[in-house]
Amino acid sequence: MRVDIVTIFPDYFGAGAGATGAGPGSGGVSGPGRPSEAFGGVGPLGVSLIGKAGARGDIDFRVHDLRKWATDVHHTVDDTPFGGGPGMVMKPDVWGAALDAVLADAGTPGRLAEAGTPGRLVVPTPSGVPFSQDLAAAYAKESRLIFACGRYEGIDSRVVAEARTRLPVDEVSIGDYVLAGGEVAVAVMLEAICRLLPGVLGNERSAADDSFGGGVGEGGRMRGLLEGPVYTRPRSWRGIEVPSVLLSGDHGVIARWRRDESLRRTAAVRPDLVSRVAADPDGLDARDREVLAEAGFPVGGENMAH
Ligand code: 6GU
Repeated sequence: MRVDIVTIFPDYFGAGAGATGAGPGSGGVSGPGRPSEAFGGVGPLGVSLIGKAGARGDIDFRVHDLRKWATDVHHTVDDTPFGGGPGMVMKPDVWGAALDAVLADAGTPGRLAEAGTPGRLVVPTPSGVPFSQDLAAAYAKESRLIFACGRYEGIDSRVVAEARTRLPVDEVSIGDYVLAGGEVAVAVMLEAICRLLPGVLGNERSAADDSFGGGVGEGGRMRGLLEGPVYTRPRSWRGIEVPSVLLSGDHGVIARWRRDESLRRTAAVRPDLVSRVAADPDGLDARDREVLAEAGFPVGGENMAH
């Protein structure tokens, strides 16, 4: 997968050193030929799963400094909003030139960036559609993602409108709060996407065995529910014992207990998720309804045949 990030803070992604080298339209700071290992250990692209995906060559990261496409001596990227109001709006001409250059650069031929694939433009904004596990799974299947990080009060709205005539564009929010800019949101989304890429340890087992697929939006029986409690050795720690069912060796009983715990936790902290699972005809079985009723969360008696 090829990932381009356009930002006024390339340093945030550990790409600061290369950020000043290239001129307008060159394609950017980590650009052609600069290996993803350049992020090794520095910034959110250099560590953990994302760092490994970059080092393996499964993701080709390119970080671009938006200011390179500013044309005045001060490298201005923002201006006052038409109609008045607080803050500043990012200029369409600068963003237009940046996206033209990034889209024109098809990247290194080979398995990373399939030539001729425009990919998908993702614009982080608190006014976007909610980012979710399903969206992460869809993005993990793309051959190219381009992230456009806004700052200030946002990007002139014509930029997204015009980009939509050229490629699929998603405006995406990572939650109901306001960040100063999209950079952190991009790091969040990339981490969620990277752990779903083929080859990442654990994916195969999760995909192959339904009963191990867990968590909100992930495949399998626990889909839509929160994970319950987990334990490791020692069996007794500061006087607290691990639940004995987990030591029983009875995988059927353990799976049922885990589901009970998931249902209890989800009912307690995310009743909206329980309602969503309950609305699915195959979402809850009779024992699920019993557990939820005991937890003070009655969900009706339909589908008792399960
Ligand atoms: Cl994606 N961007 C910004 N700037 N703020 C946010 C957000 C994104 N998601 C929630 N708040």
